[in-house]
Amino acid sequence: MSNLPQFDPTPLTELPAFEALDDHAASLEDVHLRELFADDPGRAARFSLEAEGIFLDYSKNRITGETVELLLNLAEESGLRERIDAMFRGDHINLTENRSVLHVALRAPKTQELLVDGVNVVEQVHAVLDKMSEFSDRVRSGAWKGFTGKPVRNIVNIGIGGSDLGPVMAYEALKFYSQRDLTFRFVSNVDGTDFAEATRDLDAAETLFIVASKTFTTLETMTNAHSARQWALAQLGDEKAIASHFVALSTNAAEVSKFGIDTANMFGFWDWVGGRYSMDSAIGLSTMIAIGPENFRAMLAGFHAMDEHFRTAPFESNLPVMMGLLTVWYNNFFGSQTVAILPYDQYLKRFPAYLQQLTMESNGKSITVSGEEVDYETGAIYWGEPGTNGQHSFYQLIHQGTKLIPCDFLGFSRSLNPQGDHHDILIANLFAQAEALAFGKTSEEVEAQGTAEELVPHKTFEGNRPSNMILAEKLTPEILGKLIALYEHNVFTQGAIWQIDSFDQWGVELGKVLAMRIVPELKGASELHHDSSTNALIERYRRQKA
Ligand code: F6P
Repeated sequence: MSNLPQFDPTPLTELPAFEALDDHAASLEDVHLRELFADDPGRAARFSLEAEGIFLDYSKNRITGETVELLLNLAEESGLRERIDAMFRGDHINLTENRSVLHVALRAPKTQELLVDGVNVVEQVHAVLDKMSEFSDRVRSGAWKGFTGKPVRNIVNIGIGGSDLGPVMAYEALKFYSQRDLTFRFVSNVDGTDFAEATRDLDAAETLFIVASKTFTTLETMTNAHSARQWALAQLGDEKAIASHFVALSTNAAEVSKFGIDTANMFGFWDWVGGRYSMDSAIGLSTMIAIGPENFRAMLAGFHAMDEHFRTAPFESNLPVMMGLLTVWYNNFFGSQTVAILPYDQYLKRFPAYLQQLTMESNGKSITVSGEEVDYETGAIYWGEPGTNGQHSFYQLIHQGTKLIPCDFLGFSRSLNPQGDHHDILIANLFAQAEALAFGKTSEEVEAQGTAEELVPHKTFEGNRPSNMILAEKLTPEILGKLIALYEHNVFTQGAIWQIDSFDQWGVELGKVLAMRIVPELKGASELHHDSSTNALIERYRRQKA
């Protein structure tokens, strides 16, 4: 008998709301957004929500009042309320790893108490935050000196996955608030080019390496960290230099000290923080150095505000719940395979990449929490690029291709860099895209413009293509925290409906194990025992390398 926690819900497809949604979706197949808007002048107001400074207009979705009602029933029947309470209580909802899932504790105020196996983790979180703040202040002010007595001016974060994507995204998103005389680089790929290019113009005497790894065993990160060590030693010439040029962010003190980093220079976190949910833990040290402790805490306050909204708001006015349900709607009843993330803000250029790990490593699962194979679709493919660049690249397919691609548009009413008409043009494009997708352009409209007959079908836009519009006043650290938490809980909602464990990631293991087997084979001439394709590839590589 397994000692993993047990959870055995009624299969999704047997829930009455799921069956009702199936029939309902069929009845909406031929209904166009044009009709839905024409029939209800109050539609935009009816299908909009606002909370914590974030406005969501979801009226341009292929839904009616009945759809929302049925989706809310699905949430109830799926036990979403109990799942949310279980997470915030610290229950071991990461069933396959038998762990709590408590990234919400990372942004809980000092006065809050959250017990994990009897220990108040909020106290531990704030102790680490205080240590990070003190260190960040010293680096920012120049008080933290390198081995030769020079202040640190370059910060290189070495990490991968959650130990990289969050820090890079947040650094880019909040660059406006960053201390500009500090240089930030991020090394993630085990491809030596990443490390070489990130360090080629840096002086080791002024460089601080942040080795970010929850486990401190990840091959890519440890390979890069060892190269960084050699690079620093080659310039500084003394083992003692490591102490002032390397810090670690990890849960694994033993491995950190084995690497040669003094655990006094380690910023810890805990196994109840998933890698892709860790950017607001110690993993955010580079972010804190860039924007300062005060801004970092404002970002945490933003996260917390959205956590509280998710925990307490009724589902019908709950932003992450509504977004999660809409993704389920298209994924399970319209055959949509993807969600496009389209931020109309250059600072959010890495937001889609960040969301790829958050969403797909979380919900790319096909076995339910009861251990059964699903008989329905789960995790959508998330992808995207900032507008307006995407418009001149892949939007063609969204407008006129054969696939239904729900889009999340994001924008801000105020620019951080006002410049002539730029912002009005940007936002005009943002609104125009959502409008064009929803309403399209009929063949009659195209004909009325005197278009040659044979071109009419090419110039016609079918429309009826769904999107969410997410607006906030201005990109601030607080709003960024809210946006990230919005997606974290959106992912949670989807995973709860799909009855999967959104917090494990067994799917990344096999490739890692096979790579470890192949590494020595690439170096030697040993006999190969793979399939014929892999054997031939290894042999070709050996030949060409030689
Ligand atoms: O890709 C698998 C994974 O475990 C991610 O979940 C994680 O964010 C990443 O590797 C890095 O792990 P670590 O922080 O332990 O180096």
